[in-house]
Amino acid sequence: SVEYSLRPQRLSQYIGQEKVKRNLEVFIEAARMRNEPLDHVLLYGPPGLGKTTLSAIIANEMEVNLRTTSGPAIERPGDLAAILTALEPGDVLFIDEIHRLPRSVEEVLYPAMEDYCLDIVIGKGETARSVRLDLPPFTLVGATTRAGLLTAPLRDRFGVLSRLEYYLEDELQTIVMRTADIFEVEMEESAAVELARRSRGTPRIANRLLKRVRDFAQVKGDGVISLSLASQALEMMQVDPLGLDHIDHKLLLAIIEKFRGGPVGLDTIAATIGEESHTIEDVYEPYLLQIGFLQRTPRGRMVTHQVYHHFNLEVPE
Ligand code: ADE
Repeated sequence: SVEYSLRPQRLSQYIGQEKVKRNLEVFIEAARMRNEPLDHVLLYGPPGLGKTTLSAIIANEMEVNLRTTSGPAIERPGDLAAILTALEPGDVLFIDEIHRLPRSVEEVLYPAMEDYCLDIVIGKGETARSVRLDLPPFTLVGATTRAGLLTAPLRDRFGVLSRLEYYLEDELQTIVMRTADIFEVEMEESAAVELARRSRGTPRIANRLLKRVRDFAQVKGDGVISLSLASQALEMMQVDPLGLDHIDHKLLLAIIEKFRGGPVGLDTIAATIGEESHTIEDVYEPYLLQIGFLQRTPRGRMVTHQVYHHFNLEVPE
């Protein structure tokens, strides 16, 4: 399907994350030359930057199967045992949100990652005994929004740690132009620049905005995505010229209006605007920190002068 082909299938088609790509290229080629599975890979960074896509590319490049699951989906050790014993030699197991694995499951993962084996307990009480099962060699690809959310013993068992960064504007422009090609929709280059500029460094957002702008072009225009049509559509979707949405606005304005610009604690902000602390910390804050709109201090979050300028407010004394 078109939706499926939006994700690049090979490393050579993947735009951006040059450092991560260059390293993976070497590790994949070396593992293939030795006829071994790739070492376990931890991908971390804000949502929407391509962690799932990269895990599929790793499996493709290694010419093995990809099995996908997530931390919260694996509730008991037996669930993980079932997945691990069903793998074929060399397969990639992708665990999204790996920081949310229950501790009891995590403990099963340690010997599996280290020695490709499973320690299972048979029987109960006095007669209980531990049995060691061999597993096929495999590659675990774990994804998380922050490496710091992982326990140290789990983090230490990954051989490759790759941090995904926000994309540059010209990389995002290339991504949306590629997507427009796949959709077979005509787009002015200036419209692609505008979409890239308003996508918060995030391909998932760029492609989502492109889909909605395409809807506007189809219904309100002549099907061509021009700069003026893209700008109008983005304004109607409440995406501002920096790509900030109404939750970013609510968060920044609450700090200004209710807490005199801060510092204010994360949980206080969360309660004030009615969003989860974790969502603010993992989704909204990283980009606002990156563009210099927020600062973290020991006493909480503060907005910077730039925020006052962005909202045309007077900077306080
Ligand atoms: N689509 C979404 N992310 C992409 C990327 N990094 N490269 C190419 N196409 C993409």
